[in-house]
Amino acid sequence: MKIYEGYIEKILNINGEKRKVLIKPNETLLRVIREKIGLTGTKIGCENGDCGACTILINDIPQKSCMTLAIEINEDDKITTIEGIDDENIKKAFIEEDAFQCGFCTSGFIVNVYALLKKNSNPDDEMIREYLESNLCRCTGYAGIENALKKLIKK
Ligand code: FES
Ligand code: FES
Repeated sequence: MKIYEGYIEKILNINGEKRKVLIKPNETLLRVIREKIGLTGTKIGCENGDCGACTILINDIPQKSCMTLAIEINEDDKITTIEGIDDENIKKAFIEEDAFQCGFCTSGFIVNVYALLKKNSNPDDEMIREYLESNLCRCTGYAGIENALKKLIKK
């Protein structure tokens, strides 16, 4: 690990690409992804672990990037952001079921839905609720989001 006057050089493996960044020890992964890597699909909401707008995958597990320090990430860790989610069916289902309005929460929901379906292609209602409860949406009332997910399960 190289250190330059308060900055640490890190290699982050994001969406299959290795990216070299200089970070401070107190910088969150959320801020590094957006402001140093330039991937702005991951949203800044509460920065307090409550809203889920910043959800990404670390080694295929959903994590709130505002609650993760970039310094904690190892070079071997696989980070996936909304830009790296290649499942067009999920995006299509969200559009067809009006699962968003302003869209601010949508990246986080899609990342979570992707992780859920990878883990279990036929989740029951309890599992669906468990995965979706970590994310907040101020606009939709959640029905469209649940419908989109149910549509994907039927496919
Ligand atoms: S911005 Fe991370 S949970 Fe709200
Ligand atoms: S679509 Fe606006 S917050 Fe969810």
